[in-house]
Amino acid sequence: MPDAVRLEVTGVTRSFGGRPVVDHVSLSVAAGRVTCLLGPSGCGKSTTLRMIAGVERPDAGEVRIDGRAVFGPGVNLPPEARSVGLMFQDFALFPHLTVAQNVAFGLNGDRAAKAARVGELLERVNLSGYGSKHPHELSGGEQQRVALARALAPRPRVMLMDEPFSGLDNRLRDGIRDATLEVLKEEGAAVLLVTHEPDEAMRMADEIALMRGGRIVQQGAPYNVYNAPVDKAAAAFFSDINVIRATSRGALTETPFGAFLTPGHADGGEVEIVIRPQHLKIDFDRGGRGPNPTAQDGTPARGTVQRARYLGRESLVDFKMDFDGSILTASVPGVFLPKTGTALWLMIRRDRCFVFGVGR
Ligand SMILES: Nc1ncnc2c1ncn2[C@@H]1O[C@H](COP(=O)(O)OP(=O)(O)O)[C@@H](O)[C@H]1O
Ligand SMILES: [Mg+2]
Repeated sequence: MPDAVRLEVTGVTRSFGGRPVVDHVSLSVAAGRVTCLLGPSGCGKSTTLRMIAGVERPDAGEVRIDGRAVFGPGVNLPPEARSVGLMFQDFALFPHLTVAQNVAFGLNGDRAAKAARVGELLERVNLSGYGSKHPHELSGGEQQRVALARALAPRPRVMLMDEPFSGLDNRLRDGIRDATLEVLKEEGAAVLLVTHEPDEAMRMADEIALMRGGRIVQQGAPYNVYNAPVDKAAAAFFSDINVIRATSRGALTETPFGAFLTPGHADGGEVEIVIRPQHLKIDFDRGGRGPNPTAQDGTPARGTVQRARYLGRESLVDFKMDFDGSILTASVPGVFLPKTGTALWLMIRRDRCFVFGVGR
């Protein structure tokens, strides 16, 4: 049985100076699930989060938590009455309070109950024994964990996190992300996490809501958003892309890499076939003797190496294609550094191509 919807946002809208910044955003998050609101800087992510938190007033729309309206017609609960936990990049702990006092800050109840909850959370974020330290005695990562414990202490029904990892050292970040995710799952809150980094969203999210220009353009599991993007820009947000332009004729598009079925595209209409660098394959087996078409890989096309770079996990090779002089980039696992001018045959993973009509 799917978990109950904890947070439900419907048609939330906000303009600044007549310009819509958040435009009819709708999303829902179930208990124990993480939804990442992902998009480029300035697309309206923080404003959306702030409206859900209750620190920014929507012009229209509705916000429900546990089925109860916290914002809507005639309703506008203050942030402290919404049962939301907040965590931002600048999570400023209270410097004059100890770690334990920081975590206990938003807690009500008797002393023993508060102490028990603080102890439980410090253990959960791996900071048992740090209770009497002050924030300045902790590393950035440790402070971040205290902030997480503080936000979770009152058992919020919904956790709202705005780029909470962006202030952290790159090298530490992945470990802290994973540890944070584990704690969030244990606590069972519904989590809405804002980020502009696709890697972070892929790593953290049960569901990604991709935002652009104030709107959610696609929402789904990370696998689906990555492998079935709604348009070229959605594909390009997650990685570099290659684009092959062609014309659709009777639901078929001929390219130097073979024919593609392109149903639903107008006869004579321009289409773009989009493919990520890791799905462009070099036809090594044929040693340049191609073509050797297979159903999966289609027809090889020849190009010459313009540039090859080794990036550690992979090598990126740029090819100038014989058929039209365009540049296509292939990612090859490990070390592969062919000389500039080397001619090689490329194939594309047909099952990994996205076809979009031009002008859409
Ligand atoms: N209080 C405000 N007054 C005017 N413009 C604002 C205000 N808050 C945000 N904006 C504008 O709204 C847009 C979206 O901002 P924001 O939600 O912070 O984007 P993101 O978090 O995705 O980077 C930006 O163009 C920003 O300048
Ligand atoms: Mg922001």
